[in-house]
Amino acid sequence: MPLVSAMMSLREALLAAVRSLLRGKSFLKALLAFWTASPVTPINSQDAGAKVNADPAADFLAEAEHLLLGFIEAGGLKRFSRKLKRQFKERLWSNTECMLPSYNSQLPTGRESGQYLALDVGGSTLRVALVELGGKGAEGAEGSIIRMDTFKIDSHVRNLRGARFFDWMAERIQQTVAKDSTRGHVPDVPLLMGLAWSFPIEQTSSKGGKLSVMGKGFLAHEGLVGQDLGDIIKSACQKQGLHVELSAIVNDSSAALLSEAYVTPSTRFSLVLGTGVNIAVHLPVNTIDQPKFGDRPSSWHEKASHVIVNTELGMFGHDILPLTKWDKLLKADHPRPDFQPLEQLVSGYYLGEICRLALLDAIASTGIFGGNVPPSLRTPYSLDTETLSLIEADTSPSLSDALQAFAARHPIPSYRPTTADMSFLRTLASHVTRRSASVVAASLHALWELKAEAERAMLASLPDPSGAFALETEAEIALASSKTTVAFNGSVIEQYPGYRARLQAFVDGLLAEDDGDGDLKKGSIALVEARESSLRGAAVALACLS
Ligand code: BGC
Repeated sequence: MPLVSAMMSLREALLAAVRSLLRGKSFLKALLAFWTASPVTPINSQDAGAKVNADPAADFLAEAEHLLLGFIEAGGLKRFSRKLKRQFKERLWSNTECMLPSYNSQLPTGRESGQYLALDVGGSTLRVALVELGGKGAEGAEGSIIRMDTFKIDSHVRNLRGARFFDWMAERIQQTVAKDSTRGHVPDVPLLMGLAWSFPIEQTSSKGGKLSVMGKGFLAHEGLVGQDLGDIIKSACQKQGLHVELSAIVNDSSAALLSEAYVTPSTRFSLVLGTGVNIAVHLPVNTIDQPKFGDRPSSWHEKASHVIVNTELGMFGHDILPLTKWDKLLKADHPRPDFQPLEQLVSGYYLGEICRLALLDAIASTGIFGGNVPPSLRTPYSLDTETLSLIEADTSPSLSDALQAFAARHPIPSYRPTTADMSFLRTLASHVTRRSASVVAASLHALWELKAEAERAMLASLPDPSGAFALETEAEIALASSKTTVAFNGSVIEQYPGYRARLQAFVDGLLAEDDGDGDLKKGSIALVEARESSLRGAAVALACLS
């Protein structure tokens, strides 16, 4: 080998070795690959890379898998769940932004019935509906939606600041109500509505709460933080000549729990996983610091042994999350990087973006997609989680549907992605979503353990072992050690191919690891779909009040 060429090759090999090192491979291994290359084969700089790193795309995927999922190995997921549990416990006592007790202390009996107007403000849609609750045993007892209007919330609406967002909302409510011949709105009589709100809210009564900072890219809170959400909506509606009264306001996670508990009495948790993420859990009241309850009438406290808590799960995870270089890039560009750190790893708003950042990295370093970045993917948040779900849905060897879906959304001038490119992206997406499922599973498991422990502590603290609170708590303990139902809702968990099965497998794995931890181990956790849970839950919340 001529000296100059050998020096060039060595330089390339060293560079490749450093690159491999950055990806967590052994520097020595990469160098060894260079020295064991045949000395008689002429090595130009390209060949050197190829010899050292025969399949850079496969190496990249192996590294991505390690970075995204390595933390779960050797009991890592269980350790992570324990750390989360510690954070949940701390914030039941010390934080005003999350672990928020609702006003719902009683779960529905299932006998509530009637027609209710429900409003659902979600991450990507506003929906106004008339919901009929049939009551136990009635046909369609879980509640049927008699009429519903859906309005898309696009980025323009997301960017409406303060009152302008609520004016937009009120116009839509007005449009719907004006059409509603079944109710015939009489201006003097307020129209009673239940609201499911997919953002944090510090509840001050069953029908009111302080507007808090919103995630998911919304700006509606600007200038209004701390004001009463019910009043804000009411006065926006008044401008439209509409006399409404928000009689029940619940976070969408509480709505999901209420809607499923209405038909499945063993429901004690809900999981919402769509644009955002959240879990609500039914906890003993003494698990929560008194100031968190705010100024409630003593009659509320006298009746409440338990309460539905909106955990605001997305806000957890500071300092314990398994962050990759792509998560750090996402954070660096985020307007509120520390607001909802866990949400950034798991929810539909972010999964596409994590994948986009990893894909750009891969295109630059491995040459997949012929080294071409689709121009549309240079824009942040341009790779939708929905696109990933279409790609993962294609299990054919040719991946032709996935290729078509990708090309339609992200064309590349003068390059046609190959099956190998699509297979690469598909595997990358599956690592990103598996990590999401593992983190959500650890969160559920941590809260399940926390509840079971809290019930025992509650029982031990009650002075009268035969009183009503003790009986309720004993029933909760019995339930935790048999079967707990988790009501789920949201586009990712409902529609992303294989997500739910991955989540259930991680949850089951964590429960199986509990063997030997005492009688917590006996329980099982069943994920049950709560369809249209926001609208139904808002109606159930309203029905519970009446
Ligand atoms: C919000 C929660 C909501 C969740 C699911 C999060 O971004 O902060 O309040 O429950 O998304 O919609």
